[in-house]
Parts: sequence; C-alpha cells; structure tokens
Amino acid sequence: MLGATAGLTFLRSWSHSPNDTINVAVVGLNGQGWGHTRTYIQLEGVRVAALCDVDARILAQRGAQVEQLQGTRPKLYEDYRQLLEDKEIDAVSIATPNHWHAMMTIWACQAGKDVYVEKPVCWSFHEGEKVVEAVRKYNRIVQGGHQFRSDLTTRHAVARVHAGEIGEVYMSRGLCYKPRGPIGIQKDTDPPAWLNWELWQGPAERRPFNPNYVHYNWHWFWNYGNGDIGNQGVHQLDVARWFLNKGLPVRVHSTGGRYGYQDQGETPNTQIATFEYEDGKLLVFEVRGLFTNDEQGAKIGNLVYGSLGYMSSGDGYKARRAPNEELPPRDGLNLPNPPAEAESHYANFLRAMRARDPKILRCPIEEAVISAQMVCLANTAYRLGRVLQFDPARKQFINDREANSMLRRARMPKGFEIPERV
Ligand SMILES: NC(=O)c1ccc[n+]([C@@H]2O[C@H](COP(=O)([O-])OP(=O)(O)OC[C@H]3O[C@@H](n4cnc5c(N)ncnc54)[C@H](O)[C@@H]3O)[C@@H](O)[C@H]2O)c1
Repeated sequence: MLGATAGLTFLRSWSHSPNDTINVAVVGLNGQGWGHTRTYIQLEGVRVAALCDVDARILAQRGAQVEQLQGTRPKLYEDYRQLLEDKEIDAVSIATPNHWHAMMTIWACQAGKDVYVEKPVCWSFHEGEKVVEAVRKYNRIVQGGHQFRSDLTTRHAVARVHAGEIGEVYMSRGLCYKPRGPIGIQKDTDPPAWLNWELWQGPAERRPFNPNYVHYNWHWFWNYGNGDIGNQGVHQLDVARWFLNKGLPVRVHSTGGRYGYQDQGETPNTQIATFEYEDGKLLVFEVRGLFTNDEQGAKIGNLVYGSLGYMSSGDGYKARRAPNEELPPRDGLNLPNPPAEAESHYANFLRAMRARDPKILRCPIEEAVISAQMVCLANTAYRLGRVLQFDPARKQFINDREANSMLRRARMPKGFEIPERV
C-alpha cells in the first residue's frame, strides 16, 4: 500500500540537457489548474505529459482538451502518489485545494520532482516549516504561485519604494475588497460517484461529504481553506510584506465577521489583521467581501506609506507627497531578480529548472511560506479573539499553548501525516 512516503523511495535529479523538453504534470484541474495547463501548452520546451484529478469528469474532460490543444494525449492519474512514481515526469504543478499543498510538495520533493505550487503554499503554519525543510533537503526547484512577484509594475513599485522614493516606509497595506455572495446551506450527503472523496480530503480531518465543499467553496471552511485573506488576499499580503522587506511579526491581531447574510461558510467575509514588527512598522490587511468603496483606485491591491508620501496600486503606484503633488517615476532602478524583465512566473520556474538554480526563482519557497504563515497567524488571532505575541526566531506564540496548538492540524488521517522528519 502507498503510505505517506512508501512507494516514493526512488530519488532522481532533473538531469536533462537545457534543450530537452520538460515534462510537467498538472494536479487539480477545475479552476486554476486549467490556467496552469493552458500556459504550459503555450510555452516553448515544455509538454503537459500528465494530468491528475480526483474528479473523474474533470480529469476526462481536461485530458481531451489537452489532446486537442497540444496534439499529444497526457497520461491521466486519479491518485497523486501514482503520478509521482512516473519517471517521465520532471515537475508537478499543483492547483488543488489548500489543505493538500504542503503534503503534495513534500512528497514531490521526496520523489525527485520540481514543483510549482499555488498560494497559499501551506494550509497550516507547521506545514510551511516542513515544506522548506523538504525543498532544501532534496535540493528541488520550487516556485510559490505568487505571480505578482513576476509582475513588472509591482516589481518596479517595490524597487522604487526600496530606493526611498516615499521616504522611510512605516506602514504597508494589502486590500482584498472582493464582493462574494452567500453560499447557502446544504445537507451532508454521500459523495458523488465521480469524486474520490477520500483522496479529495487527503490530509484534512475526515468529514461527511457536503456539496458546498466541492468545488471552490471549500475556501470558506476552516478544515480546507483559509478564508479570503488566504485566498485572493494572500497575493496582496505577500506584496505588502515585500514592500516592507519583512518576515514574521512580533504581534498580531485580527477581527471581523461574516456579515450581510447567513450561510454555511465559516470564514469571515470582513476581516482586519494587523501585524506589528519589532521596530514598530506595521502591515495591515483588510478583507471586505461586501460591496465597498475603493482607496485611490485600489480594491484588490496595495497601499504603502512612507515618511515623505504614499503610493497606491490603484493608480499604477504614482508616488504622492501632497494632494496634487506627484513625483516623477525614477529611472535606472535595480529591479528585484533581474534580468528577463517581462518573463512570466511559469517561464521563470522553467528557466530555474533548466539552470538547476533556485536563485533564479521569483518566488522561492521561503518567501511563499512566510506569506502563507502570516495568514495562519492572522486567522489564529481572529479565531481566538485576542492579541497574540509572536516570537519570530522560535516561530511560536509566546506563552500561549492554545494559540500554538492551532499552528498545526489537530489530527491527520493515517497515511497522510506530514512527516516530522522529511
Ligand atoms: N495564483 C492565482 O492567481 C490563483 C487563482 C485561483 C486559484 N488559485 C489557487 O489554486 C488552488 C485551486 O483553486 P481552484 O479555484 O482551482 O479550486 P477548485 O476547487 O475549483 O479546483 C480544485 C481542483 O483540485 C482537485 N483536487 C482535489 N483534491 C485533489 C487531489 N488529491 N489530487 C488531484 N486533484 C485534486 C479538485 O477535484 C478540483 O478539480 C487554490 O489553492 C487557490 O488558492 C490561485
């Protein structure tokens, strides 16, 4: 039987020549994974060699679509562990629900595959630690799916802020003002015949099937998702942190609720999280899931404040010092991660794979994990309803057993445990 690491005993390094075609397998194909697939099909030097999904309808449909677009038929897998045994596959591109991300990444590293993994790259704080350990131990190329780190406008804005254009930054804000409707209330049922519910759940605590989980609305249940701060929001949280050039905070507070309607969703549709750093600098994140105003044009975006002025993504990051005083954009800045300025996040991943050089990656796993862990800190503070003191060096809340226990899963089903030793 295939257990957590059983069957994944072989190790291989990607040893093709730089001109060889990279064989990628896309995992989780309903929404974002189909975007991965179409992007790889359009890129040079890469082939979608396999697809994996636990929804038999989607797997068959995507297989046929890939064959039509690419001209070759991908292999189809229901069970990710069997996909990892396929020696032809060089990399996996993971777009499953959040509760699977860390486990799939760790297993892939153990099987000698490179990984593109969607944000948030871990569902719990503890999983993030294990992912970083696995990537380093097995020396894999792993890109976090924060594509704003490859976005030219964002990279320019970060370079300008880091060069001091708005003075000394003291506060960075991320906004997720994205209206979402209610999801209703549905009864638990038997899982449908087209879904492997056991594999869909994977490392998550076992629950009866509910149609409100599959597909997409699992985001609003704590057992699988991380709310909108960990969905759309983690993109802007990551950018906010990038502006500040900071890691994990020393204090976190978060409050909010699920306002405006009653439904089965558990996560807040309105949430404010504040993260404070040792030097007093602030990262403030806000989710607004009902209709709301913008801020200088930003709704899903970022604002960054310095001693001389501020910038908003909503107007293309114009630097403003006074109501009508706009600073001219600077030339000659050193962009983070040069060269190949206009390279997409996926092309960047493939280039890093070919060079076997993680320094090429625009979103190395360490950065992606910190942003995912910030989500976990905020949601822990939200669920406990109090301000939490955090020790970034020891990576735990200070003298708070209850909060610390929430940084990992309470129970993990046999065969799907995140290994303590990766
Ligand atoms: N980077 C971005 O801009 C972006 C955009 C959208 C979504 N995402 C991320 O992509 C991920 C997927 O989001 P979505 O909206 O496509 O979700 P979704 O629920 O629509 O699709 C998830 C797919 O994964 C499949 N799946 C579940 N368990 C599986 C398993 N064990 N093996 C193989 N397949 C499995 C499901 O059957 C489904 O087809 C999320 O983590 C989300 O945060 C990122």
